[in-house]
Amino acid sequence: MSFSAVELIIKKRERFELSTEEIRWLVANYTSGVVADEQMSAMAMAILLNGMNRREVKDLTLAMIDSGERLEFDGLAMPTADKHSTGGVGDKITLPLAPLVASYGVAVPQLSGRGLGHTGGTLDKLEAIPGWQASLSNTELYSQLAEVGAVICAAGSGLAPADRKLYSLRDVTGTVEAIPLIASSIMSKKIAEGTKALVLDVKVGSGAFMKTLDRATELAQTLVALGQDAGVNTSALLTDMSTPLGLKIGNALEVEESVEVLAGGGPADVIELTVELAREMLSQAGVTGVDPSENLRNGKAMDKWRQMISAQGGNPDAELPKAKHSHQILATESGFVSRLDALEVGVASWRLGAGRERKEDAVQFGAGIELNVQIGSRIEAGQPLMTLFTDTEEKFARAIELAGGAVEISNSSVAQRKLILGRIS
Ligand code: URA
Repeated sequence: MSFSAVELIIKKRERFELSTEEIRWLVANYTSGVVADEQMSAMAMAILLNGMNRREVKDLTLAMIDSGERLEFDGLAMPTADKHSTGGVGDKITLPLAPLVASYGVAVPQLSGRGLGHTGGTLDKLEAIPGWQASLSNTELYSQLAEVGAVICAAGSGLAPADRKLYSLRDVTGTVEAIPLIASSIMSKKIAEGTKALVLDVKVGSGAFMKTLDRATELAQTLVALGQDAGVNTSALLTDMSTPLGLKIGNALEVEESVEVLAGGGPADVIELTVELAREMLSQAGVTGVDPSENLRNGKAMDKWRQMISAQGGNPDAELPKAKHSHQILATESGFVSRLDALEVGVASWRLGAGRERKEDAVQFGAGIELNVQIGSRIEAGQPLMTLFTDTEEKFARAIELAGGAVEISNSSVAQRKLILGRIS
């Protein structure tokens, strides 16, 4: 069946539903180049403004899955589970989480991306480990999953190519924030990846895509419904991203903090989220009645981490890259930290060189920020609030302004941050 792209754009512009056939035609013809970028841009804007119903979002997701290959792990002796985070500042949870879940006999095929903008990418973080390789063939991915039980690697170009094309277009047309487009983008890749269980970490707050709990809840409900419709056991946690996760932000710094957690230490918020997401993934994969914090304490998750890193050429004992320059920001007054804004800290870290501005840019592995305080911490004037790291000294001025502006100190004590704000299943 053939349609006209212009007629479909007008139909969505006038708030009508697109049929299954129309959506399938649109995605297939956009992927092959028949539907032009400018037409798909107009369609993305019409979807952002007028929305899509559940059936349309499901059809869009299925059409994006069908634009590429679909992996399957049915031959594995273990169940599979994966996690996807909508992205945040200091969000290194995938690093300790994948080996932790694998240490309970549930395989984790985690296909990840690189960072763009103020939220870091998992692959950039792991590439800070000397020797570690992000690219695996499908055969290598399968063998590592069977032998080690955990893989974090680059998503191949064969997985949901329609999403790859559409995502680049959305990035430059102000259409990233549309819930139907975010949901179909995330879920097309996760369903095509072949996991049988999936947990979504939907971030809420200044450092996240979704700034309010209402919007985050709507996104989480859409994601969970898409997963369940596709036969994947899916649930979501809504978690706070108004302030950074943990104390270290930046590629090598986040690997360092992940290893602290795997060694049984690390900041309480990173431990809490790692354990809660592990519990959720294990339960979606049918493993209940275990306390995931145990394998952080007894070294079993660390053993899996070492195997996982070594299997991809990395040396888990190698020293991590360090930045050439550092600068401490000191508190100018005494009191309690009442604000430590995730977005401003994230942008400062990005400007220091931890992130990239354009896809082709290289990241600085040692760049980033180490915090000395979190929300609620008591601080005296003159004590360090944070240390900034970069290889490029000229980057300090702008980053100091941003990071300094992220902090507020008040006279009275401040309530502890609530990290887990809700659960959708
Ligand atoms: N992550 C994705 O993969 N796609 C989006 O649209 C947003 C976040």
